[in-house]
Amino acid sequence: MIPNDLRDLVTFVPNKTEPIHKWFYYKEGYSKKFVEWAVQEFGLKEPICDPFCGVGTTLLTCKQLGLQSIGFDVSPLAAFVSEAKTRDYDSEKIMQELQKFKEMEPKQIGKFPNKQVRRLFYEKQLDDIYFYYKKIDEIQDARVRALFLLALIDTTGRVANVIKVGGSLRKQKKPKMPVKKLFLGKVKKMVLDLKKVQASGSEPEVFQADARNVKLEENSVGAVITSPPYLNKIEYTSIYKIELGLFFREQETRLRAHIQDKATGRDFETKLPLMAKAYFDDMRKVLQNMFKALKPGGKAIIVVGGGCFPYEVVESDDVLIEEAEKIGFKKLDKIVAREVHCMRNRTIKVGTVRESVLVLEKPSA
Ligand SMILES: C[S@@+](CC[C@H](N)C(=O)[O-])C[C@H]1O[C@@H](n2cnc3c(N)ncnc32)[C@H](O)[C@@H]1O
Repeated sequence: MIPNDLRDLVTFVPNKTEPIHKWFYYKEGYSKKFVEWAVQEFGLKEPICDPFCGVGTTLLTCKQLGLQSIGFDVSPLAAFVSEAKTRDYDSEKIMQELQKFKEMEPKQIGKFPNKQVRRLFYEKQLDDIYFYYKKIDEIQDARVRALFLLALIDTTGRVANVIKVGGSLRKQKKPKMPVKKLFLGKVKKMVLDLKKVQASGSEPEVFQADARNVKLEENSVGAVITSPPYLNKIEYTSIYKIELGLFFREQETRLRAHIQDKATGRDFETKLPLMAKAYFDDMRKVLQNMFKALKPGGKAIIVVGGGCFPYEVVESDDVLIEEAEKIGFKKLDKIVAREVHCMRNRTIKVGTVRESVLVLEKPSA
């Protein structure tokens, strides 16, 4: 049965109140409830694969449902968050470390090398973040270290003088908030979440990898639940440039692996904007990889959004279904979850862009 609130379930918003899922806000994600619905509604079998795992919504939900899963994301930030959210932790160890951090007073011990990002902060606050970053490095236990780093990354986003608007960052001064209080408060909340949620399943495997090149063993995956980057939508490297630049040193070496090109113009044969053509070429590779990896009878549940261009809307769901069928998938369903206006110059309506859930199946031999 299709839930009445499917339009909300394909967003990250319901995760804002879900223990652990809420550890890092990822606007581009979907919700735990969406994954739960998909598993139940389509009788999905483990292991479940998410080739665009983002911050691990599929993986964490699978763990909570007791299902095995495996995930990939090209972004080091996303892969890190996915892993940190899906490990088993010893709360005692975290509390011991927290006590040590409470006793420390941050002082200036150095600076992040990244000058471009530095100007987005009050100096003292970034100095404090640097102090904790270095102290986190000294934590012996790798899991506890990752959990603290995730808390610091989240705190950094909160105190930065920017807001995330659509697909970009906008400078905006914020009141000076105390880094120590926010950071240690976040760790404390994370421990409370761990106590609240008893995940029964095993830890998923998480890899930083490009879904176009992921070659899993043939017929090894029970189902796929995923959502690729939307056509012509978000440039992940710019919206997360603070986190990537400070903690993953990725900002200068702009990630080229992201699906979709910067190409402009129109493809002669398909008449699609070149950017859309490049996107579907990339997605074809991912669909092929998924098809091979799925066991016969295995299903792929894919949330996709259409592309909004100045003079047209590109219906990604229909193009992807066509591509999937050419590869050998059988289309079981296309469920429209949301529709939004596609505007040119914010005033002229070009059309309506759909966000849909595709249900595909690798036929049994
Ligand atoms: C729509 S988001 C997925 C969000 C995820 N469902 C969640 O709830 O967190 C798409 C993800 O694809 C990742 N991505 C983009 N290009 C990729 C590629 N070539 N290979 C793997 N991941 C990629 C982005 O970093 C982003 O995290």
